[in-house]
Amino acid sequence: MRKVFFLCLLILTAFTGQAQELKGTPGTFTLGNKEFLLNGKPFIIRAAELHYPRIPKAYWEHRIQLSKAMGMNTICIYLFWNLHEQQEGVFDFKGQNDIAEFVRLVQKNGMYCIVRPGPYVCAEWDMGGLPWWLLKKEDVQVRTLQDPYFMERTKKFLSAAAKELAPLQIQNGGNIIMVQVENEYATFGEEQAYMEATRDAVRTAGFDKVQLFRCDWPTNFNRYQLDGVATTLNFGAGSNVEDKFKVFQELNPTAPLMCSEYWSGWFDHWGRPHETRSISSFIGSLKDMMDRRISFSLYMAHGGTSFGQWGGANAPPYSAMATSYDYNAPIGEQGNTTDKFFAVRNLLKNYLQPGEILGEIPEAKEIIEIPTFELNQSAGLFVNLPAPKKSETIQPMENFDQGWGRILYRATIPASAARRKLVITELHDWAAVFVNGQQIGKLDRRRGDNTVELPPLTTDAQLDILVEATGRVNYGKAIIDRKGITEKVELTDGKTSTEIKNWLVYNFPVDYEFQKKAKFKKGTATGPGWYKGTFKLTKTGDTFLDVSSWGKGMVWVNGHNLGRFWKIGPQQTLYIPGVWLKKGKNEIIILDVDKPEATRVAGLREPILDELRPDESLLHRAKGEELDLSGEVPAITGSFSPGNGWQEVQFQQTQQGRYLCFEALNAQQANDPLASMAELELLDEKGNQLSRLKWKVVYADSEEITAANHAADKVYDQQESTFWQTQTVGGKPKHPHQVVIDLGEVVKVKGFRYLPRSDKSTAGMIKDYRVFLKESPFKL
Ligand code: GLA
Ligand code: CA
Repeated sequence: MRKVFFLCLLILTAFTGQAQELKGTPGTFTLGNKEFLLNGKPFIIRAAELHYPRIPKAYWEHRIQLSKAMGMNTICIYLFWNLHEQQEGVFDFKGQNDIAEFVRLVQKNGMYCIVRPGPYVCAEWDMGGLPWWLLKKEDVQVRTLQDPYFMERTKKFLSAAAKELAPLQIQNGGNIIMVQVENEYATFGEEQAYMEATRDAVRTAGFDKVQLFRCDWPTNFNRYQLDGVATTLNFGAGSNVEDKFKVFQELNPTAPLMCSEYWSGWFDHWGRPHETRSISSFIGSLKDMMDRRISFSLYMAHGGTSFGQWGGANAPPYSAMATSYDYNAPIGEQGNTTDKFFAVRNLLKNYLQPGEILGEIPEAKEIIEIPTFELNQSAGLFVNLPAPKKSETIQPMENFDQGWGRILYRATIPASAARRKLVITELHDWAAVFVNGQQIGKLDRRRGDNTVELPPLTTDAQLDILVEATGRVNYGKAIIDRKGITEKVELTDGKTSTEIKNWLVYNFPVDYEFQKKAKFKKGTATGPGWYKGTFKLTKTGDTFLDVSSWGKGMVWVNGHNLGRFWKIGPQQTLYIPGVWLKKGKNEIIILDVDKPEATRVAGLREPILDELRPDESLLHRAKGEELDLSGEVPAITGSFSPGNGWQEVQFQQTQQGRYLCFEALNAQQANDPLASMAELELLDEKGNQLSRLKWKVVYADSEEITAANHAADKVYDQQESTFWQTQTVGGKPKHPHQVVIDLGEVVKVKGFRYLPRSDKSTAGMIKDYRVFLKESPFKL
């Protein structure tokens, strides 16, 4: 029996030329002429991206095997610096963080590995994987050589990571075939020297033999060069593959082609519709890549869950990521197979190497239901305050050595009969404001809220501002995103403003040990507070915790942090892996900073990921509001040419203004009533792009925000794959369509750059347009 087995293995090895290094024999992986070479033979990478912290360790192998069963030969992983170095200088690569163990599991299952150690990774992960404690340095800069401290810490992390993984390079008998340098750097900067230094740091750290690569977009990869490093491109489901590689191939005629992130779906934001990508559009381009022998990595093959505090955010406009990272990926959040999964498996089985066998689908994980039960103990937040710290000025939580969670700022405000307001600069990210214990307002950074009206006060009063941090920005220039209140709180009566000083500061970290300490009593708390309950199980299994009757906060089950919830959706359930449950008694603690409608939960067999319950209009147009452009003089009137890609337009003269109106007069296709736009950039007199960090949409005549996420602010979210599109159903959309943006300050503009949508659809692509720029607001 054993002999037969070894004989088979020998034959298989001879056939594929791949298997020997998967058993510990050194091998090679190099760049050939238009193809990758594995041990000297052509090799097409079919990779599945998985994120080890988004999968409980006990399920790692299950997800790896599912990926193999989909037809993959490689697993691609990011390393998350801030997970491994939660305290400066203290590294953790054990248990759930044991990356070497993960890579060895991949090898055990006969697959190769691509490692993307950062230091920056994006990934809808808090601060894109950078540790929050970097922000304790006041003038810190990231992803640049300008800050030696950032580079020094980067090198330390890379060395620690390489200590774990360098022995697993293919040249050492491991299965790691490539290692990535940084991540989509061209979307952030053009500092070639930084990328060179990071490449060298990856090498010096210990990834000294393996093939290096870097990934960027088809439209921007040429912003810097990186010698000795392969270039791969990222793009999404439904892309025109030939188009995406066209420019790259012209410039690099002999390079092997790889789509290093082929986006299978997309991620969800709180308060925005659930994202999906159709199977047909997704499979079409994948087949095209296979037919052209183009390597790919599916981002994500299985997204999993951003447990705990790890979900990130985008900005501008600030918008935090939901907890589920299901991603509409082929393997669902619970490790379940979907129609997309079978579509990939059915496709890829036709493209296996000779002798390669499609992996078997591992057994599904059991799902259980938990009947509804009450959390009948509670502990009010205000009667469970930790010891405060004193601070003359208000400061972000990082300055108090707190990484995540909630923070309460308390001060005294003087009596006054006048009408006064509080003005907060800046609120990160959500707050409830109390005067003498009475809630007087709630503020939300997504809307740019920063003021609260104060009631008249006959005596001095106690002011409490409870701030919840909901994920650090993980993408773009807004990544330096301190939490709490970052600058000041002012009291203003319309004439004079005074800064409020002498604060008491209470820190509420996310650790379970901290939540456990609250003094629970029977009954319901008034105001923000913790709730506790227990439930008994006779058998364990995965389940989806229905938190739809709760306000906003976080959940811990048996000490495991399940992540954030928010009643606005679109997700109304939180995934509980069965391995975190036990037979007998289980404990659940919920911290709600807003207010539960009912204090009950249940375990469901299916997740609810698409139930949006916005607590305010998300549209950038009030009822009855109509933009009046009569009497306005356009800065320019013009026509775009049809087709994809950036187009640049110069004004006759430099214009000055703060309010910009872009008006689409018609579409490229006759009778198309829609307007759509992926990105809009303004250029100064030197042709440089103006910062878009302060931009805010003040008006959009129409936006599709129910059927899909095409809000007007998608024109400056720095994502080429997202776009504004006017409403397709319901309303009666017709031209002209306008979006008005407050640029946040008066600027000089000489021209602009426009990017049409870049998926296969051409709906709403703009033809004739007008642009207006004014110092005063437009008439609405
Ligand atoms: C980019 C990044 C990824 C991820 C995706 C979107 O491609 O490289 O980390 O953020 O966008 O999911
Ligand atoms: Ca966009």
